[in-house]
Amino acid sequence: MSTEPTPRPEPRVTTQTFRDKKARHEPITMLTAYDYGTAAAIDRAGIDSILVGDSLGMVVLGYETTLPVTMDDMLHHCRAVARGAHRALLIGDMPFMSYQASTADAVRNAGRFLQEAGMDAVKLEGGHERAEAVAAIVSAGIPVVGHLGLTPQSVHQLGGFRAQGRSPDAALRLLADAQELQDAGCFALVLESIPSRLGALLTQKLDIPTIGIGAGPDCDGQVLVTHDLLGMFDRFTPRFVKQYAQFHQLMQQAFTAYSEDVQLGRFPASEHTFSMSDEAWEALGSALEEGTGDA
Ligand code: KIV
Repeated sequence: MSTEPTPRPEPRVTTQTFRDKKARHEPITMLTAYDYGTAAAIDRAGIDSILVGDSLGMVVLGYETTLPVTMDDMLHHCRAVARGAHRALLIGDMPFMSYQASTADAVRNAGRFLQEAGMDAVKLEGGHERAEAVAAIVSAGIPVVGHLGLTPQSVHQLGGFRAQGRSPDAALRLLADAQELQDAGCFALVLESIPSRLGALLTQKLDIPTIGIGAGPDCDGQVLVTHDLLGMFDRFTPRFVKQYAQFHQLMQQAFTAYSEDVQLGRFPASEHTFSMSDEAWEALGSALEEGTGDA
């Protein structure tokens, strides 16, 4: 019998881990996932947190924006991610119109992410106008991540997917919104597509960790959409993305090779097939001749 001690599972990342990392100036890592396999790989790579982003509407479901994504879509994908990840802090993104119409809606829908889909926290977009909803969700015991800067659910109001906070007035509004979200109880704040120096200023002014996506190197952590990082999304790649692989191209090559193999009779080969003994085959023949077969 082996005398090796059983390895203890690594402790789960919590909201406290985020706070500790900010205090120790250790970068927080976060990626998006929408399915079991990707979540398992991200978890095993030791990434601190997985965001089931409503970006799934664009990179998985093929919509032009995130606006058509529903609570049912989100919960379905959150459940798959929760089955694959056992260490990372899991954050469910609240979709468009799941928290804007009323505070009661916001609390009820936030609760569903934890109760029905295995998430640890939720994220929602917006500043001053969302402070009441954030405070209500937090007082229900649900950790909340805020999201400022380029907030894709407001794409039509913002006039497109463009960088935010570049004028003094816009930067001041962002600073005030960030402070209000922190006061309302957010435990972290995603900052998307803002100037790096504003990302650094917000990070220095806030007690809660900032997680940047196109917000420069001085945020407390970084998040990317995994499909962008892997080169899986074929429509466009935002400026702030570093691509670590070209999966779309690789997939297309693999599918073309498969198609050629099938057409040329190279697949399936004998190692991909199942055998039947001569005895069984002959018995089948006799049964068919005598008409005693089941079929
Ligand atoms: O939906 C998403 O993936 C996000 C990230 C871009 C932060 O909100």
